[in-house]
This record gives sequence, structure tokens and C-alpha cells, in this order.
Amino acid sequence: MAMAGRWDRLKELNRKLSALGALLEDETISSMPEWVQFQTTYVCNLECPHCSTHGTEERRREYNYERKGMDRELLSDVAAKSLPAADEVTLSVSGEPLATPGLEKLLDEFEPYGAKLNLVTNGTTLSPQRLSYLIPIAGHIKVSLDGATPTVLETTRKGARWTSVLQKVRLLMRTIELLPAGFERPRVQISAVAMASNLRELPWLIRLAKVLGIKTVGVAPIIVHFDHLADEVLDKHQAFYNACREEAVEVARVLNVHLFLPPAFSDVQPDPTAVPRGGKLMIPDLPDDYYETVPPLDSAFDAEEIEEQARRTVQMITARLSKDDSRGAQAIDHAAAVEALAEAKVESVLASNSERLARMDEESGEEVKYCAFLHRRAYVSETGVVTPCCTLGRPTLGKIGEDGDLAQIWNGGDYTEFRRRFYSDDPVDCCKGCWYARYIPRRRLLDRVFGVTAAGEV
Ligand SMILES: C[S@@+](CC[C@H](N)C(=O)[O-])C[C@H]1O[C@@H](n2cnc3c(N)ncnc32)[C@H](O)[C@@H]1O
Ligand code: SF4
Ligand code: SF4
Repeated sequence: MAMAGRWDRLKELNRKLSALGALLEDETISSMPEWVQFQTTYVCNLECPHCSTHGTEERRREYNYERKGMDRELLSDVAAKSLPAADEVTLSVSGEPLATPGLEKLLDEFEPYGAKLNLVTNGTTLSPQRLSYLIPIAGHIKVSLDGATPTVLETTRKGARWTSVLQKVRLLMRTIELLPAGFERPRVQISAVAMASNLRELPWLIRLAKVLGIKTVGVAPIIVHFDHLADEVLDKHQAFYNACREEAVEVARVLNVHLFLPPAFSDVQPDPTAVPRGGKLMIPDLPDDYYETVPPLDSAFDAEEIEEQARRTVQMITARLSKDDSRGAQAIDHAAAVEALAEAKVESVLASNSERLARMDEESGEEVKYCAFLHRRAYVSETGVVTPCCTLGRPTLGKIGEDGDLAQIWNGGDYTEFRRRFYSDDPVDCCKGCWYARYIPRRRLLDRVFGVTAAGEV
């Protein structure tokens, strides 16, 4: 386990190179993605009605049975060459990451590279054994729960059982609570999709987070993929959304839970009586007295059983971590060479741009255009196709094997041209008006170059 720290310097150098490339808008400054997202599987055990890949019988058939997962040899090869320089890794963007074939072996293989797992999961298949592999490598765990109470959770996350999934999430949290002092704990949050059918759950999701021991709730607005759910979109329920939002913010304040929500609709008076009903909704007819009849949230799980399982999970984790091994050794030669090159590159870029950087430092309050996806993340599909993000209309920027390895594609002509256009007056269509294209203080990039900023931040 000591090996993970082996790559800390390379990761730090890579963060500097990526920030220098963005600051100086110089495509000759080569770096590696800081966050690699592998589409390891499209398979999922749930059938959330709003999900683009599993929301209908037809889509599920296509994604669960016809699509192949990522070739294991390709995955191992790209991981060995990219993860030593990366801060984060994600499995399966459009499926359930815990359905990745050979998950435990894969995590075992990735762990020595020191890239932290950023996991977005439905949480339904967490178990002591799985947690013993996930917790040591995870930096962030986002559990997707679109409801806090039985009917809403089981309808929005079709296939999940209220008691079962909450028992598993509480096991995750209790295990983290019991980890020995000094253990780097993953940050856990509830991720929810806000839609008309679950707006009344917003305050309940905060209460649920409190009961589970989770400190953060992140809410994103629904993207409607199917006409039969057309009325779920928040735009159609502005006054009701504002009312539920207001209540959720207040509950989060009182319970001391961090809450991230889509903004309120401006100039719209909150109206708690405008409950969405009928129409093209997932839940058209929740009874008026529903919230008077929901069971206490902590009745979903069995605290005694969780305590026993969590203690056992901690034992499994400490037993695994105490094993001295040489996993990841095959990447050492490759990464050591890359590290030496990166060290020399940082020095030379700093030396040849010292005056320009000093001037920038004086004007560091100025804002610069930036997209974290463009400079920090790469998506690798199951066939090795590399894209910059998962925004609609994104271009394909290369295919591993045909166009070289990930480093060559990341620093190659198509990526460079895509980045160049991002800064020009004529960005590629997908970047025009994209929410992720924003202006940030130049200071944030300078801090990355001069080592003030930690991994994962911009
Ligand atoms: C596609 S899922 C894949 C990971 C995992 N299966 C899960 O549900 O957490 C990734 C995230 O997208 C969210 N999501 C699914 N359908 C959505 C939609 N129509 N609009 C917005 N977010 C959606 C999910 O709730 C989840 O948090
Ligand atoms: S759990 Fe995730 S991948 Fe599965 S159906 Fe739900 S949103 Fe889609
Ligand atoms: S600006 Fe948007 S579309 Fe363009 S690379 Fe960034 S996330 Fe993708």
C-alpha cells in the first residue's frame, strides 16, 4: 500500500503542467488527464424511469444485453499508463459502476496508482466485501437517491428497495465512522435528480442524510429523455420548486447539512400548494396525507446488524492494507521515466515564461476562460474512443490504438485544435453556451502552478 504515494510527485507535476497549458494557452505543454473516466460497463440492475440508458424496456435491453463492457486488456493498459499521473478515476459513466465485471480485482489493480476513485453509484449492491475494496481507494462516493421515503424512492429508483438500499448506505457510513484515526476517509454525498415527482422530497432528503450520517446533498435538475415524462421538468413547476427549495434550505441550515441545489426561479413567488399532479409524471397521484404516513427514516435499517457488519468490514480493510505487496510494479519503469520528463518540462516552461508568469501574477485577479473538462478530464469509452466530456454533441478526439495511446491523443492535434477553438471566437458548437465553460480568477490557475492548490480543486 505504500506504493500509492510513489506517484504523488508525478501527480503534482502533472497538475502544474495542465495549469501552465491553460494559463499560457500553449498546446506544446504536454500533460496527462488528471481525471480519467472509463466506461467499464453499461449494465445496471435498476430501471430508473428517467435514466437515458435504462429508463425504458427497449433501452435496458440494448444497454444491459447488447453493449459489451470495456475490454479488460485495454482497460489495464490505459490505466497503467494514465492513472499514476491522475488524481481521480471514475468507472462507468452511463451504467452502474458496481456492475463492472471483476470489480474487486480491478480496484485492487488500480489502487497502487494512487488515483482516487470518484464513484457515482445506486448503492444497491454495497456489501462488506465490496466496501473493503472500495473504501481504501475512494476519494468521493456519491450515492444516487432520488427519494427519501418508500414510495418515492422505490418509484424513482425502480428496482431498489427502500429498506435494503438505506441499510447498505448506512453500512457504508458506519464503516467510515469506525475507521482508525489517520485513515483518509472518502467524502460521501447523496446525489438527487430534482423532478416534479420528487420535489416534496427535497427537505426529506436532508433529513435522510442526517439520519444516515451524510453531510452533503447535491441536487441536479432532471434532463428529460422521454416524452412520457415531459411534465417532470422543473421549468413547468417554478412556484412549487421555489417553495420546496426554500423549505429544503431551511432544513439543511437547521440540520447542518451542506446542500447544493439548482437556483430558484427568479421573480416567481413560492407556492407550496401547486403540487404537480396528473400529466406525464412518474408519480401522478401521491395521496395528500402521504407524508403523515411515512415511517420514521431510521426504521429502514437495523442498527445492530450494521454495527456487526461495519466492524467486520473495518477488519477486512485493515487486513488488506497491512499486506505488503508489489502491485503496480509493472508501471514503475514507465511512470518513473514520465516523471523525469515532467520534472524537466515544468522547469523549462517556468524558466522560459518567467516574465510572463510574473506579469500574470501581478494581474492575478483577472478572469480567464476555463473548462475543467477540457484541461483535466478525459472520457474513455468501452472501445477506447476518447472524448472531452459527456456533453451532447461532444466530438471524438481519438481512438486508443488507432491514434496512439491516451497521452498521445490528449496532447495530439484534434485535442489541441478543440482547445484552441475553445479560446477563440468560434468554439466548437457543443462548447457554445456550455454551463462548464466559465471565467475563473487567473489566481486559481497560478495557485495550481505554484503548488498552493490540492488535487481535485481548480
Ligand atoms: C447515469 S447514473 C450512473 C451511475 C449510477 N448508476 C447511479 O445512478 O448513480 C449517473 C447520475 O446521473 C443521474 N441521472 C440519471 N438520469 C438522469 C436524468 N434524466 N437527468 C439528470 N440526471 C440523471 C443519476 O441519478 C446519477 O446520479
Ligand atoms: S441506477 Fe443509474 S444507471 Fe441504473 S437505471 Fe438508475 S440512473 Fe440509470
Ligand atoms: S465547454 Fe462544455 S462541451 Fe466544451 S469541453 Fe467543456 S464541458 Fe465539454
